[in-house]
Amino acid sequence: MTILNDIKKLLGGDWERFESLFREALHNEVDLLNTVNNYLLEHRGKQLRPALTLLTANSFSACGQPALVAAVVVEMVHTASLLHDDVVDNADQRRGAASVKRIWRSNIAVLTGDYWFAQAFQVMTKYGETRLLPWFNACMVAMSEGEIWQLEKAQKLDIAEEEYYQIIGRKTACFLALSMACGAIAAGVEEAAVQRMYDVGYTMGMAFQIRDDIFDYEQHNQSGKPAGNDIRERKITLPLLHALRQAGEKERAEILRHIRRAAKKTRSVTKIIEFVQRQKGQEYAEKAMLGYSAKAIALLQELPDTPYRTALIELAKFMTTRRK
Ligand code: IPE
Ligand code: IPE
Ligand code: MG
Ligand code: MG
Ligand code: MG
Repeated sequence: MTILNDIKKLLGGDWERFESLFREALHNEVDLLNTVNNYLLEHRGKQLRPALTLLTANSFSACGQPALVAAVVVEMVHTASLLHDDVVDNADQRRGAASVKRIWRSNIAVLTGDYWFAQAFQVMTKYGETRLLPWFNACMVAMSEGEIWQLEKAQKLDIAEEEYYQIIGRKTACFLALSMACGAIAAGVEEAAVQRMYDVGYTMGMAFQIRDDIFDYEQHNQSGKPAGNDIRERKITLPLLHALRQAGEKERAEILRHIRRAAKKTRSVTKIIEFVQRQKGQEYAEKAMLGYSAKAIALLQELPDTPYRTALIELAKFMTTRRK
């Protein structure tokens, strides 16, 4: 992931200020909460979203406090959503280590997630950045809708390609869109430019989630998350959705039976992965992902030519090549 290190270097003092604001925001006097927070600080993720916020702000004008605050709020809300996501998805691994849900159980994971959500909005208020509130609000409504819609689809085991795009748009792409829009708002640009950056983020986010969904079919992936977890949770993502559409009626029924058993039978998970490979489900998803990334790059070309724009274009490519 040298690209993210390069970006942190490019952002220099802005990144350092972001880091110290982020740590400062977690200060509290509850021992258990500090223990969990320290664990989260020891296992940081890629910090892709705050990087998007700060690069966007810088690509319009010098980055000031509003952009730094937005970046902190974005990463805190993201962390909260992951704490909850691992409860929802029954996932024991995150960032190459045991998930908070695994170590401290669901009750602590849910409450720590609530704390990070609430603390994020405290930071926003403290620094007087409440103009961002409607943006966060709309995005978090969309995220919840996407997550619940996904669960509904997992119960019914029936999902159309267009529904898949609607779901990942809500649960993931909206948030990358928000991360970039906040950077533009903080830089004080006109509404049309904010909207353009929102669209870039959304398009990148679609590529990002498709890549994430492909990880689930890569048995030795380096994402730090277990392969096959979506399958065990009956989540039909793009590779499997396409494969099912290609299959004949008999095979389709057989695979659906395996999906129902996957939570309990490793053999069913293997069968499904083999089926997706045979039907070229991953290749199909990769093509869709590359389409989104290309669209994001085309939109980014309209920005002024700066090192920040170059970095954003590199990130749009990274969405499709990343191994983590
Ligand atoms: C994981 O996001 C959640 C998804 C939307 C797929 P990231 O892959 O950005 O998570 P971290 O923060 O880098 O671990
Ligand atoms: C995560 O989607 C989306 C949100 C956090 C809202 P996933 O469930 O696919 O994310 P990972 O794979 O667990 O990171
Ligand atoms: Mg998950
Ligand atoms: Mg999930
Ligand atoms: Mg996933």
